Amino acid sequence: MTTNGEPPATGNKIDPRGAALVVEDGEPPLPTSLPRSRIAWCITGSGHFLEESLALASRLPSVDLFLSAAAEEVLPIYKLHIEALKKRFRVFRDKTASGVPVGMLYDDVYHTVVVAPATSNTVAKCAFGISDSLPTNMFAQAGKLGIPGIVFACDTEPVVVTKSPHDWVTLRPRRIELDNVERLRGIDFCHVVSSPAELEAVLDARMKELSLAWNTSSS
Ligand SMILES: Cc1cc2nc3c(=O)[nH]c(=O)nc-3n(C[C@H](O)[C@H](O)[C@H](O)COP(=O)(O)O)c2cc1C
Repeated sequence: MTTNGEPPATGNKIDPRGAALVVEDGEPPLPTSLPRSRIAWCITGSGHFLEESLALASRLPSVDLFLSAAAEEVLPIYKLHIEALKKRFRVFRDKTASGVPVGMLYDDVYHTVVVAPATSNTVAKCAFGISDSLPTNMFAQAGKLGIPGIVFACDTEPVVVTKSPHDWVTLRPRRIELDNVERLRGIDFCHVVSSPAELEAVLDARMKELSLAWNTSSS
């Protein structure tokens, strides 16, 4: 917001709901949500399990995506385009230094914050309480508000076979990556998972806890 109360000169508008959320050009203002009725799903710049994570997000109701800047670069490399994602999800991009969309957590919009897939970088930051990207800010602020966080950490095994944009690659996560995952397991209000099946099981338990149902259609 500018000092005279006018919207910034970029042509973007401020969402009226108190979160000072920048609505991108051509997008309608966000409708008001019922309290704690939505899932905040953070995507980081991980190609590993990216498609599997999005497939699960697509099966859940009322999901908003929060992208890191790296996610925004990596998604199209895997032929996942933001314009296509916007047809299925509300998409928030990492365009502010302070993580402005985090304000929606204070507005009680979300019941759960998911970070899937989580890069080694984001896992390390979350494990050490660093918040300098949209996903790490969402994760940290959710924890401070007592909102459960679920993190799909991809580098959890001594050997990881991952899909690069063109081929399958074998990686050997270092001791520091494995140690960071263990440290993350000790963070308050955080559940760490290490496979798509485990992510689905934890999401299923959370949905049952909230008496919510998965989508019947994957469209
Ligand atoms: C095509 C591509 C795939 C990547 N896949 C991974 C990955 O699977 N795991 C990982 O930890 N980093 C991966 N990276 C590197 C991260 O994107 C990079 O560390 C970035 O700084 C992470 O930022 P973020 O954690 O804020 O999203 C990949 C990068 C590229 C270009």
